[in-house]
Amino acid sequence: MTSRTSLSSWSALQQQALRFKSIHLNDLFAGDQQRFTKFSVELPNFVFDYSKQRIDDNIKADLIKLAEQCDVEGWRTKMFNGEHINITEDRAVLHVALRDRKQRSLLVNGDNVASEVTRELDRIEIFVNAVRSGEWLGYSGQAIKDVVSIGIGGSHLGPQMVTDALSTYADHTLNVHYVSNVDSAQISATLGSLNPATTLFVIASKTFTTSETMTNAGTAFEWLTTAAAKAGVSDAKSAVAKHFVAVSSNVKAAVDLGIDEQNIFCMWDWVGGRFSLWSAIGLPIALFLGFEQFIELLEGAHEIDEHFLNAELANNVPVLMALLSVWNTSFMEFPAQAILPYDQVLHMLPAYLQQAEMESNGKSVVRNGENTEYETVPLIWGEVGINGQHAFYQFLHQSPAVIPADFIGSVESVAPIGKHHDVLMSNFFAQSSALMSGVSAQDIRAELTAKGMPAARIEDIVPHKVHRGNRPTTSILLNKVTPHSLGNLIALYEHKIFVQGVLLDICSFDQWGVELGKVIAKKIETDIANDNVGENELMANYDVSTASLMTRYKANRRRS
Ligand code: F6P
Repeated sequence: MTSRTSLSSWSALQQQALRFKSIHLNDLFAGDQQRFTKFSVELPNFVFDYSKQRIDDNIKADLIKLAEQCDVEGWRTKMFNGEHINITEDRAVLHVALRDRKQRSLLVNGDNVASEVTRELDRIEIFVNAVRSGEWLGYSGQAIKDVVSIGIGGSHLGPQMVTDALSTYADHTLNVHYVSNVDSAQISATLGSLNPATTLFVIASKTFTTSETMTNAGTAFEWLTTAAAKAGVSDAKSAVAKHFVAVSSNVKAAVDLGIDEQNIFCMWDWVGGRFSLWSAIGLPIALFLGFEQFIELLEGAHEIDEHFLNAELANNVPVLMALLSVWNTSFMEFPAQAILPYDQVLHMLPAYLQQAEMESNGKSVVRNGENTEYETVPLIWGEVGINGQHAFYQFLHQSPAVIPADFIGSVESVAPIGKHHDVLMSNFFAQSSALMSGVSAQDIRAELTAKGMPAARIEDIVPHKVHRGNRPTTSILLNKVTPHSLGNLIALYEHKIFVQGVLLDICSFDQWGVELGKVIAKKIETDIANDNVGENELMANYDVSTASLMTRYKANRRRS
């Protein structure tokens, strides 16, 4: 028995799950008029409604007990105090310090984190203002018009998700583009429409060793320096200094690549990549929106940090989100979790949360190295709600698998036109309601009879039209997507993931599972580049499937 499964709350919840498998949400709502009031939390910018989750008062009490027995509050204190809770990498986890403008002084490894954060934010402000005002000039003396951010994973998803989500707040002084994939199709399409003389590159990589990012950075270097040379700029170094900045914790590697040291923004090892958009990794956001709006985003996140720190467990939204996830996954054994934004601007939220949650807690050993005896995180996936309705909602409504879903929408549209938003939000309310209530055979019979269908035909059709319902959902209804409320939303999920890790007894802040593939890819890259490595050697060094595919690739590729 691991530390979690031996807890009294864990066994109680196992019993509750057995009992609850046959209880329908319709009955829970019918039996309790206070259900919404009881199972929702209202904060200034949104309401969090978890009344359509498959829980009751007893289950909630046991879940809170689980949070207590797992010492969520103690772990929270450790995180905010800068203790090395990333045990396998021996690091603090302090993304909350990036948005704490109250300057809580905090020493991590002897450095005052608060003053470092302020210093870096000041540098960001100066740089952003210089570029946006046109004071920062490219090699031909022209102002910057386009920014290309090169990075992947945590150095890409957060910044692009936020840039897209807040595009209606941008003044379009600058266009911001993202290149993450090493597939040359992406960078060539991006650079194809840009003028090198007015393009600035942000190379975002915490480690500055990520192969995809380094390859793309090399291509960007060549593109820029070739154009500068053609324009008569003989000093490539000075051209690079005007067009390349980096964000990294590995300053040496950035300098070695040729980036001017003055142009390197700092990252710290106490900020995990997938929690880093609040640092200089968010530079493209600040360049796009302006520094003030970037600060508003940080303030929104900080507001949730305060809520997470101060609200009692029973009304603490990130804690509730994590408890519901563990309830659904580890106890009810639902295998996946859908993220369904009913706000087009949040279209990248599912992809962002995939990395945030699955890279953090998609693990199967607990902190002391023993195997977990329970499912950890669900498969996170999703799509903008209304598009998903015409793709996979059939599965959500009628497949044997029950997939809990988060519905995220806003009272106010960021770009209102006529009745569009009412149509959109009617679907939000309808879908979460339908997933809960379903429709019974009896109701379908009545409907088809009323339409005049012959009785024999009705019986053929009825089973196909039954929706069992009882599919749990949470609704997060924002007032409106703004820099502040988006900061709220992202921080909610960040803390949910942290608490989920505590409840599951997982180290959430490493990602060893992505290393093995990277190491093998490096070796394959060498063998693919080397014409002297033939089929026999490949067969000797790889499994027969991989060796055969590589042989075919090498024999048929065309080199550029
Ligand atoms: O996917 C693995 C990973 O290490 C992520 O954790 C990280 O966000 C991403 O690669 C990019 O890493 P870096 O910022 O060091 O280039």
